[in-house]
Amino acid sequence: MKINPVRGTHDLFGIEIKKFNKVIFEVKNIAQKFGFNELATPIFENSELFKKPLGEQSDVVLKEMYTFNDRNEDEITLRPEYTTPMIRAAISNGLLNNLPAKFFGTGQMFRRERPQKGRYRQFNQINFENFGSDDFFADIEIICLANLLLKKLIPNSKITLHINSLGTRKNLSDYKKLLSKFFNDNQKFLSKDSVNKINTNPLRILDSKNPEDKEIIKKSPKLFDLISRTDFKNYEEIKKCLTELEISIFEDPNLVRGLDYYCHTVFEFKTNELGSQDTLIGGGRYDGLIKTLGGKDIPGVGWAGGIERIMLLMEDIPKTETDIHLAIIDPSFKLHAIKIYDFLIKKNFSVHWNYKYNLKKSLSLANDKKATHLIIVGKDEKNNNNFSLKNLSNGEQVIVSFDNILDYLK
Ligand code: HAM
Repeated sequence: MKINPVRGTHDLFGIEIKKFNKVIFEVKNIAQKFGFNELATPIFENSELFKKPLGEQSDVVLKEMYTFNDRNEDEITLRPEYTTPMIRAAISNGLLNNLPAKFFGTGQMFRRERPQKGRYRQFNQINFENFGSDDFFADIEIICLANLLLKKLIPNSKITLHINSLGTRKNLSDYKKLLSKFFNDNQKFLSKDSVNKINTNPLRILDSKNPEDKEIIKKSPKLFDLISRTDFKNYEEIKKCLTELEISIFEDPNLVRGLDYYCHTVFEFKTNELGSQDTLIGGGRYDGLIKTLGGKDIPGVGWAGGIERIMLLMEDIPKTETDIHLAIIDPSFKLHAIKIYDFLIKKNFSVHWNYKYNLKKSLSLANDKKATHLIIVGKDEKNNNNFSLKNLSNGEQVIVSFDNILDYLK
């Protein structure tokens, strides 16, 4: 019986899991510098946590959630995103007493999308959330953190920060009405897909890639005309600060994001190296969401990044540590070999043996695995209580003992 992985899922091993672990390591490192504490939540939650906050007409809720009834008929959903579970956890555990409360988390998310490169049904996100501050410094701080993390992980990729301001939630709801009217009046020029969204989710029409839609979108009302002078000034300040930080920004008045909870600043870090799945990180402000989920009426700002997408752009991790292979020529030398094995492991080296009493095979495997050294345990070595140590990068071979082997392995 051959059982295949479920479509849209993948296993991680070899170089990929090394890259994955590097991402997690750098995330934890940068989180500490910026004062974010780790928060881990369950993989499934009650469905109501997601339905309304993400938007009943959003693609995620309409088509992509993995939802099922538990045996006691509770409706459960595998988390499609991390912001709402983090807020739920912060409320459930009384973590919103000292503000701002800054949290990060990493873990698997689930969306039943059409799989392709950079888009999976189970994928991993990095998530940073800052609860409790409406100062735009919090927006800049969290964007700056994202930028530094990407610079650390994929220093050679060209990344652009796309940014927009959506104004208040009231501005947004007025804007949706204006847009619905405008698109209704211009229905005949729109694709069928967009026509279906006119009354339910007109903002999503702005993301349409259809060329005819794009022409109409150019003439559509602009949200910017609705936002207040204060919001406009804040947005200008944010852009100024980001330019000061040498972050390459692209102002995109049509950037509205796919989840319903956003207002004010929204942003996406994009690359042109990944085809259509080009967003590495997306986020923004979500003032009002924490209250909707039963918490205090406090604002929030955050982002999530797709680990798999970032990994697609990461270079192979060079082997820097000393990696030693053993070549044991005969079973009777095993006792001698185990002593050096134990000695080196205790000194924190990584040591491997292929369980074959064959110098040629051991050497060939060591080279394939890009080992740095080969220790040969033969008859002379056993009799003289020493070892032959071959440096695989320069080919030099020396006789060493327990007393001086470390000098050669540094
Ligand atoms: P999102 O834009 O839905 O936002 O997802 C954030 C990132 O997750 C995307 O930019 C992408 O890198 C990755 N991603 C999303 N779907 C997939 C997929 N099917 N396969 C692989 N990677 C994927 C959110 O989830 C919001 N919760 C972000 C946020 C946090 N806003 C405020 N705080």
